[in-house]
Amino acid sequence: MDHFKRELQKTADGTSTLYIPEIDEHYHSVNGAITEAEHVYIKEALLKRVSKGVTSLRVLEIGFGTGLNTFLTLIKAIELDIKIEYVTLELYPLSNDIISNINYASFVNEKYSYLFKELHFSEWEKEVAIDKNFILTKKKIDLKDFISTSLFDVVYFDAFAPEKQPEMWNEDIYKKIYDSLAHDGIMTTYCAKGVVRRGFRDTGLTMERIPGPPGKREMIRGNK
Ligand SMILES: C[S@@+](CC[C@H](N)C(=O)[O-])C[C@H]1O[C@@H](n2cnc3c(N)ncnc32)[C@H](O)[C@@H]1O
Repeated sequence: MDHFKRELQKTADGTSTLYIPEIDEHYHSVNGAITEAEHVYIKEALLKRVSKGVTSLRVLEIGFGTGLNTFLTLIKAIELDIKIEYVTLELYPLSNDIISNINYASFVNEKYSYLFKELHFSEWEKEVAIDKNFILTKKKIDLKDFISTSLFDVVYFDAFAPEKQPEMWNEDIYKKIYDSLAHDGIMTTYCAKGVVRRGFRDTGLTMERIPGPPGKREMIRGNK
């Protein structure tokens, strides 16, 4: 997938996404990239966990991609004054050329815009304090080979769709995600397929179907 072409496109809310013609797949919903990320990962995962009275937590993201989820989580950590340790996995990091054309920095409060570059140009494979409230570790690794040495309160499962990348959606992966979650941990994904929900349920997660972002009736959330 490394050598596949990535085309920059705009989604319905004006924010960028990338399209891979070879597999006919977008990085985000064409109905709005920021709108989707805010809904699926910030509102339905991060804020659900924070609302249980947590002031510091660990987040694992599967699929760093354009860095959108990371950027929004970083901004929330500052706004809410909570400490977040954020680990994100990406097997195919994007080129600087693509990153410099992504427009998320102009869709957030101006005082946070500079952080988009900070998180992209921080070193990989190292814990980097992007802010006093946010420690980022970007790992160039295949999810299949990732073994978590500590537990996470929140997991953003943001892989390409099951039809496009079936190897990311199977029992071994669901079990890996289950094992990486702490007690009371939350996992969300935009995918609402019954077979995925049942796969996660079989690991022991309590699964819910909840309303999805614009253009998607449902998404799923798992609680440990
Ligand atoms: C739906 S996109 C993620 C979008 C991303 N969260 C964002 O905000 O832009 C899926 C991501 O998973 C990455 N990916 C694909 N296969 C992977 C693998 N085996 N291990 C880790 N990451 C992988 C892709 O390169 C892509 O960046």
